[in-house]
Amino acid sequence: MSMTVKAAVLPETGSTPRIAEITLPEPGPGQVRVRLDAAGVCHSDLSLAAGKLAQPVPAVLGHEGVGRVVATGPGVDKVTVGTQVVFNWAPACRECWFCEHGEPYLCTRALEPSQRGYATLTEDGSTVFPSLGTGAFAEETIVGANAVVPLPEGLEAHTAALLGCALLTGVGAVRNSAQVGTGESVAVLGLGGVGLATLQGARLAGAAPIIAVDIAAEKEALARRLGATHFLTASDNLSKEIRRLTEGRGVDHAFEVVGSAKTIRQSWSMTRRGGTTTVVGAGAGDDMVTLSALEIFHMARTLRGCMYGSCDPDRDIPMLAQHVRTGAVDLDALVTHEIALDEVPAAFERMREGQGVRSLIRF
Ligand code: APR
Ligand code: ZN
Repeated sequence: MSMTVKAAVLPETGSTPRIAEITLPEPGPGQVRVRLDAAGVCHSDLSLAAGKLAQPVPAVLGHEGVGRVVATGPGVDKVTVGTQVVFNWAPACRECWFCEHGEPYLCTRALEPSQRGYATLTEDGSTVFPSLGTGAFAEETIVGANAVVPLPEGLEAHTAALLGCALLTGVGAVRNSAQVGTGESVAVLGLGGVGLATLQGARLAGAAPIIAVDIAAEKEALARRLGATHFLTASDNLSKEIRRLTEGRGVDHAFEVVGSAKTIRQSWSMTRRGGTTTVVGAGAGDDMVTLSALEIFHMARTLRGCMYGSCDPDRDIPMLAQHVRTGAVDLDALVTHEIALDEVPAAFERMREGQGVRSLIRF
């Protein structure tokens, strides 16, 4: 039996998402149908809509969601009807070289569902692609059972959506990718949902100082509340200010959570000799970073790309949930706007202007 539901569909690259009815087939082997409770609007949705990140169209946007399993296909034993779940937008196959070498976030098959329309959704008979394999800006969607993680006990069922992207990515960047140690100095550039999760990851790791940087001065109060010991705006003389706060050396770790060559270059410049920049932001293919051959050698720094916080959602979501329960990580503080499905364009506009943090669609 097929199902017709409302979704925010991007008709073509560079257009505005609009509400459309989509028809979902029954879940196939290994698939589940999920009814959404909430979905977060991430900067990657905006980048996918704008064509900065590749996505076949028409597409159902959204990849950070929480909901309830309403139907299961043959061969699914991970979850049953009624299980509350968080989406994992890079489900690992557990069979490829990367999966077998402990790097499931680099799984060669993780992004196949978004490219092949594997959870084929149809609108007026044409295929609609679920962006990042999830298509969470819809009342219901179909995903592989490996793209859902049971929602741990004791969490608020709406803000928990953020576990699946902002938190896994931000906290994972600190713990799994950079492996920040107690007492190491950290700078975070870009204080959206992912950046503020990164900041909280730095606080969890016992980093000090933790220097938060954004172009928007209005981010200061929340950044300080979530663990920043210092706040700088991008208009400050960043290099000089960062050195003043780190005995003249620069930070041990910089996290770039904007997704641009300019902020990658700034992050690199603010690390100490031997320091590390972790690039969390997803930038464009034609945005080039310039580093001199001499400084690469002489400064002995590391520049590291970071995919999905080097995480394994099946392992890390329960760990993050424990931190949310104890209050060590504040999820609710990241949600500044609760919106309806048809307000995604307004959420994109706020993002372009650096206003607020996460907009959360409530279904
Ligand atoms: N310097 C410092 N901060 C900046 C700059 C800049 N030049 N430009 C933008 N910012 C800030 C914005 O003011 C905003 O607070 O970066 C933040 C970005 O926040 P969001 O738009 O909410 O983005 P978010 O969802 O957190 O994603 C950040 O991570 O996963 C990736 O694709 C995602 O590249 C994106 C990044
Ligand atoms: Zn995201």
